[in-house]
Amino acid sequence: MHRIEGYVIVSADGMIADANGVMPDSIRNPADQHFFQAGLDETAVVVHGRHSHEGGPRTARRKRLVVTRQIATTAPDPAHPNSLLWNPTGATLEEAIEQLGAGDGAVAIIGGTEVFSMFLPRYDTFYLSRAANAKIPGGRPVFHEVGPTATPEDVLMRHGLKPGPRRDLDAAAEVSLVTWER
Ligand SMILES: NC(=O)c1ccc[n+]([C@@H]2O[C@H](COP(=O)([O-])OP(=O)(O)OC[C@H]3O[C@@H](n4cnc5c(N)ncnc54)[C@H](OP(=O)(O)O)[C@@H]3O)[C@@H](O)[C@H]2O)c1
Repeated sequence: MHRIEGYVIVSADGMIADANGVMPDSIRNPADQHFFQAGLDETAVVVHGRHSHEGGPRTARRKRLVVTRQIATTAPDPAHPNSLLWNPTGATLEEAIEQLGAGDGAVAIIGGTEVFSMFLPRYDTFYLSRAANAKIPGGRPVFHEVGPTATPEDVLMRHGLKPGPRRDLDAAAEVSLVTWER
């Protein structure tokens, strides 16, 4: 079994994007990007929905599963040789990783809402960054369960994860990181 690790940056109110599915600049931060990209470099596979590609110069060399309902099980991604399209209702994560030809190592889950939520029972580690001075009213939450009565922390705790200490990634911008472990 592979280790499963989640990576996200959320606003103060637990959102990853605005109501139109666009990630605003208010939650983008260079120190967080550096942490995120360096983490992905250490993982065997990156997993995300069709709109959550991480971008950046090293993306093409990373093995990835792109979650989609447009195919029944798995299918090659003609435009990207290191990618496999994957429908989780038709093939398990392990089957998809095997077909992708990825080696041992951690699997990085990088969004969006539905993909983050789907892996809640399985995270070994969840890297929760927060831009404390940004709010996205009416935005898209990191997990479906996040709302007026539940924070991302409540949801992680509910699913059996425990927080480590808070660490500043960029104190001036009020961006911090808490690593949650099962
Ligand atoms: N702040 C952050 O750290 C962070 C992290 C991730 C994303 N984001 C932002 O959030 C926005 C995108 O969010 P999103 O929720 O729309 O995007 P998403 O999960 O990347 O893409 C949604 C698409 O993924 C596929 N999908 C998702 N769940 C699936 C499932 N269970 N089974 C099969 N296919 C599934 C579907 O593709 P098909 O239509 O092909 O079937 C769906 O249309 C973007 O702006 C992104 O930049 C921010």
